[in-house]
Amino acid sequence: MQELKSFNDGWKFHFGDIETIRNRWGWAKSGSFNQGPESKAYDDSDWKNVTLPHDFVFETKVYDYSEKEFGKDNTIPAMEDVNNAHTTAGSFDKNVGWYRKHFFIPEEYEGKKIYLIFDGIYRDSWIYLNEFFVEHEPSGYSRIILDITDIAAYGEENILSIKCDARQAEGWFYEGGGIYRNAYLKVVEEKHIEDAFIHGTPVENNGVHMNFSCRLCNLEGYDQKYLNLEICEKRTGKVVKKIDYDLEEIISEPIDKYEETDEKLIFELGDGDLRLVTSFEFEEDEVKMWSLDDTNLYELIITLIDGDEICNVDKKTFGIRNIEFDNNKGFLLNGEQVKIKGVCCHQNHGGLGSAVPKEVMRYRIKKLKEMGANGYRGAHYPLAEDFLSICDEEGMVVMLETRVLSSASKDLSELERMVKIARNHPSVIMYSIGNEEAQTQTTSQGARIARTMKKFIKHLDPYTPVTMALLMLDMKTNTQIEDYKLLEGIFKELDVAGFNYHSDLYEKFHREYPDIPFICTEQGTFKSTRGCYKTDAQKCHLAINEKRDWYMFGAERWRHCKPEWISGLFIWTGFDYYGEPTPFAWPAISSQFGAMDLCGNPKDFYYFYKSWWSKDEVIHAYPDMNGETGVPTDYYVFSNAEEVELILNGKSYGKKAMKDGDYLIWENILSEHGKMEVVGYRNGKEVSREVNETADKKSARLEVTEDYREGNIVIRKIALLDKNRNLVPNADVRFDIPKEWGEFLGASNGDPSDHTPGKAGYVNTFHGLAQVITRK
Ligand code: GAL
Repeated sequence: MQELKSFNDGWKFHFGDIETIRNRWGWAKSGSFNQGPESKAYDDSDWKNVTLPHDFVFETKVYDYSEKEFGKDNTIPAMEDVNNAHTTAGSFDKNVGWYRKHFFIPEEYEGKKIYLIFDGIYRDSWIYLNEFFVEHEPSGYSRIILDITDIAAYGEENILSIKCDARQAEGWFYEGGGIYRNAYLKVVEEKHIEDAFIHGTPVENNGVHMNFSCRLCNLEGYDQKYLNLEICEKRTGKVVKKIDYDLEEIISEPIDKYEETDEKLIFELGDGDLRLVTSFEFEEDEVKMWSLDDTNLYELIITLIDGDEICNVDKKTFGIRNIEFDNNKGFLLNGEQVKIKGVCCHQNHGGLGSAVPKEVMRYRIKKLKEMGANGYRGAHYPLAEDFLSICDEEGMVVMLETRVLSSASKDLSELERMVKIARNHPSVIMYSIGNEEAQTQTTSQGARIARTMKKFIKHLDPYTPVTMALLMLDMKTNTQIEDYKLLEGIFKELDVAGFNYHSDLYEKFHREYPDIPFICTEQGTFKSTRGCYKTDAQKCHLAINEKRDWYMFGAERWRHCKPEWISGLFIWTGFDYYGEPTPFAWPAISSQFGAMDLCGNPKDFYYFYKSWWSKDEVIHAYPDMNGETGVPTDYYVFSNAEEVELILNGKSYGKKAMKDGDYLIWENILSEHGKMEVVGYRNGKEVSREVNETADKKSARLEVTEDYREGNIVIRKIALLDKNRNLVPNADVRFDIPKEWGEFLGASNGDPSDHTPGKAGYVNTFHGLAQVITRK
């Protein structure tokens, strides 16, 4: 048997630390944390009831810096720290939070193995169960697996207390706080399966060579033990393979890594644990490949049998695909060249902070796919496994990054957990061992750390390439490095050289190191506020049309990444995210780098990417028709049509030819109110048209539509529309969230300086739009 139950419900929460008298024997004697919030008797009846995922930092009030001295551009120093409310972290109150949960473990569980699993707690968590200390986990991004078999109380109530301290930063962005990912209770028999890893390597015209390994625990005296593998199609349930292993059959010398082997190997690991390392074949056409458009997934069901008794059934979802990074052809998926059109993203969402349910994760991936993105870089920390499963299902390749370039044992432990979660997921196509480690990347220590980390990864997963996001920047002088030799020590350790920015140097890299596969790991960082065509520094709203240079560069940098030998790029970022409020600091609490805003509404530059990344006919023009009139104005058009025509109030300003990877500008036209039309042509025929009309504010009313529904989560779009259904961007109103929509998870509007709490019960539209997320 194997039970995996959600452990998300029924938590109690207390904001802030608890100063109280503690038993001075707490650390000295086992099971003696019997005073304070760690203790069973502690009265938590007045604590708040919460459900996971829960981000307590996001629930705090944004710090008020209005009395502070502002510098140029309305900014205050980025790391200004009052009451832990770092402006880079979004000016929320990073603090301490306590969680408690009372739960019952049935008597019949005695003799089985009981685990608590936390997919991520931000951060520095101190975990106690039944007055025993269980674990201290500094990391805010790694899965924590706790074996509580010995200290569980069977047939009784158990009391779990967790303190987390979100005050220290692990990054330079919003990080949230608390048990912000899912938690589970897992029960297995003592004899059980762990660490199952399955991987398929397609063999040209000859099926697929599969490698499988797992750990079998507590099998003392392993005669008459069997392990059965069954593989079924995930979509149809059709069984495609069954294999039975008699564990008595082969005992061999241990190997210490998951090397590809054609032999069946079973060897002892001590304490009755065995490792099985084996391989088998699929005939040609017996299985289908996983790809971006056809995400064929399989379920592996592993059954451990002792005599007649089934001890444990474990399941893993996997996909089979061939990945290659080639120095000349770039990234190849199943032998076909695929340009990675990727985005970097942080894990928070408008109105929710870091507590993002998996349904909202899927919504975000779908939004990115609509833009034409096919790649996701988890910047700059391990992602939740749910997220990787969604990428498997939706068809999105993932560059998975560990938090820091480090071979310290704590950091290798995080790396190990990241790889063990990721290695069965077909979407994960490379691991990154660091981002912009500018202090270390030119040093011999950096090269040695990279070597150690790569070797460490290869022991756990020999198949997935390793890269790192390097940067041609000299930290001492803050100037661009021109000479790739300075970083040679580190990128020669990697499978794929990864570089952030400085894309004008990429050709030089390829000339000097033609044999090394290459990827642009980060690019972009253009800022703008959705729907803003006149910068307002007080409000931290930044007009896209006033920053032509940045966006010109944006187009140029995409073109820099077009040569075949470049595997692809990841733009900074897909969505705006909390923290790093750039270029303005407070009162902005979010960044403005996104192609989409905090809630996934497209900004104008989104259409640049969509034009060149998606297969759709795209046309989009800005600024809109609601600004001042009679002002000399440049009109910009993003489109993938061959020719584009701009028509203002019926007057054509002529057609212009669109170059590949570019966009068009009609300069110096006196702005008018009324109707703007942009029309795209291919072979002289109209293929796309966008109409933008000046909104009639007087007839504005709110319209609510369901944007996305999955399971019990509903994402609603609130739009302010006039009688002709034009978006009204300049008459924003408050919307009160109806109680009958169910449990209210959060609301936001994409305004980088809106301080309305996500759970205020109302939301203001921003340039005509807002979003509400509920659960029912
Ligand atoms: C990059 C960094 C990102 C983000 C970005 C902002 O250098 O990797 O995490 O900080 O700059 O421009």
